[in-house]
Amino acid sequence: MRHWALIATAASLLGLHSVEGVPSLIRSVEQGVSSCCSILASRLPGKIFFPGTAAFDSQLTKYYSAEERALVSACRVNPATAQEVSAAVSILGAGNCSFAVVSGGHMFWSGASNIGAPGITIDLRMLTSYLLSADKKVVAVGPGLNFRVIYENLAQFNLTVVGARSNTVGVGGFLLGGGVSNLGPAHGFANDNIVGYQAVIANGQIVECSSTSNSDLFWALRAGSTNFGIVTQFNISTYSGGVMWGERERELSDAFIAFMKKLKQFPLGGASFISGFNGGQDTLVGGFAYLGTDGSNTELFSDMLAVQGIVFDSIRPNVNQVNISAEIDASFPPGLRTQWGTMTFRANTQLALDISEKGREVFAPFTGRPGFSYNIGYQSLAAPMLDASHAKNSPQGLSGTDGDLFLLNIFAYWNEEADDAGLDVAIREMIDYSNSEAEARGLWNPWIYLNYAFPGEAVYEGYGADNLARLKQIQHKYDPQGVFAKLWSGGFKIPK
Ligand SMILES: Cc1cc2nc3c(=O)[nH]c(=O)nc-3n(C[C@H](O)[C@H](O)[C@H](O)COP(=O)(O)OP(=O)(O)OC[C@H]3O[C@@H](n4cnc5c(N)ncnc54)[C@H](O)[C@@H]3O)c2cc1C
Ligand SMILES: *[C@@H]1O[C@H](CO)[C@@H](O)[C@H](O)[C@H]1NC(C)=O
Ligand SMILES: *[C@@H]1O[C@H](CO)[C@@H](O)[C@H](O)[C@H]1NC(C)=O
Ligand SMILES: *[C@@H]1O[C@H](CO)[C@@H](O)[C@H](O)[C@H]1NC(C)=O
Ligand SMILES: *[C@@H]1O[C@H](CO)[C@@H](O)[C@H](O)[C@H]1NC(C)=O
Repeated sequence: MRHWALIATAASLLGLHSVEGVPSLIRSVEQGVSSCCSILASRLPGKIFFPGTAAFDSQLTKYYSAEERALVSACRVNPATAQEVSAAVSILGAGNCSFAVVSGGHMFWSGASNIGAPGITIDLRMLTSYLLSADKKVVAVGPGLNFRVIYENLAQFNLTVVGARSNTVGVGGFLLGGGVSNLGPAHGFANDNIVGYQAVIANGQIVECSSTSNSDLFWALRAGSTNFGIVTQFNISTYSGGVMWGERERELSDAFIAFMKKLKQFPLGGASFISGFNGGQDTLVGGFAYLGTDGSNTELFSDMLAVQGIVFDSIRPNVNQVNISAEIDASFPPGLRTQWGTMTFRANTQLALDISEKGREVFAPFTGRPGFSYNIGYQSLAAPMLDASHAKNSPQGLSGTDGDLFLLNIFAYWNEEADDAGLDVAIREMIDYSNSEAEARGLWNPWIYLNYAFPGEAVYEGYGADNLARLKQIQHKYDPQGVFAKLWSGGFKIPK
């Protein structure tokens, strides 16, 4: 009853005074959204796209997962400037129209950055500004870019940024969720290296923020997801090191932990190891990348290199972030059905082995299914990285006192919708198992990586009570009416 009453209120606020009975009420909400689309079309001519057109369909191919590609919104808006984003937010707020926001489209779950009708998608693809400061210390980029463009432009100066290990991941979502990078051990999460944001807040205002102006919003946007603003420009610190020397389970895991311990002395390397099932067989890969030119790579990776025949060898001259990321993108192609899960635990070989073993059991029923593959990745969140992040006052609440951590990333791919439910259950079973075993062994850490998490996972609770309380305060200050909480769907929401 209450539900229909609310819809009736929405309809009447939009001037749609029909209505007796359910079907016409539903139509009224759809009419509300369609009137938002028409107003947008008249305010931003040429930038609104409707279903059934080639332009609309081609925008869906940007999404990484098949599930996100399948959502058809009432219309898609392509603002080209912050002013146009502001106009769109004002129109959607005034019209009480639900919306989603997409940058690179790589968040995997259905509804993360797309929305079905009646809802509207704001696609930031046209915000592609790129400006390197005169002293080359800061690059200002739009959320429509992906990392390939940034890496390639900076490479000519032997510079790079703390960015994704994939060329196609979007700047927007990656930086609003954290950002685990090959440069992490030296510099923390990617978003610990942002020096300024420009964002459109809930009332449509365009706000600049940095450590010296609107510093509260500046801090909160580092854990921003879909809560504080639509970011229209990120100012990111550059680092030298454009040229890199790139990249049996128990042995590999032990070697990986030994590698993590050396990062304090040689902080320029990234690595992970992944056990899984790919191309019809069990697979085990250790991969690493080295970002310095000083030759300490030999010492840093000696333990992993000693594991015969396993290592994905990216240690060769003249390799940069573009080359390494291209190899990752080729291994994990877009357009498939996919589900991911994550949790975090103190680096420990036995638990990693047990989780991998559990994976073989849980995924066994799917190994004959069309297009099926899965990977269980153990990525390094080494204490030096967490210290670097803590020193930059991260809202995510980790520090070196958490110890060397393994970031678990479980992800599966498949072709047929018939397998969706079964694989959803399988991934959740894996995460439940990993959490309860980690807890039982005193290895559990509450932090959940936003960019790998399931829809609805309690990521903000894992940032610690103080950080969460402060984020709520800042949210209330910049969006007192709760417009974004109500209308912006997708991403992760700060709990009420
Ligand atoms: C092949 C592949 C490789 C990956 N590699 C890495 C890696 O090396 N390290 C790592 O940490 N993660 C990695 N990820 C995970 C990745 O960080 C997340 O999927 C991330 O959210 C993608 O950002 P996006 O802009 O492409 O996604 P989108 O789906 O466009 O956005 C993700 C979320 O952010 C919101 N959002 C996007 N842009 C904005 C904006 N400008 N303002 C406000 N909100 C916005 C969206 O609404 C959505 O909720 C990888 C993922 C894939 C598929
Ligand atoms: C906005 O619309 C939703 C339904 O989509 C409704 O629940 C809510 O009451 C509406 N709010 C206003 C202020 O009209
Ligand atoms: C970049 O590094 C390479 C290899 O070390 C060097 O040959 C080149 O001169 C450098 N270029 C610039 C612009 O510093
Ligand atoms: C970001 O960089 C641009 C270009 O250099 C500059 O104009 C802007 O003031 C910077 N914004 C913030 C918030 O630092
Ligand atoms: C890596 O990519 C760069 C261009 O970004 C290219 O010049 C270089 O030859 C590539 N290196 C290898 C080993 O392929």
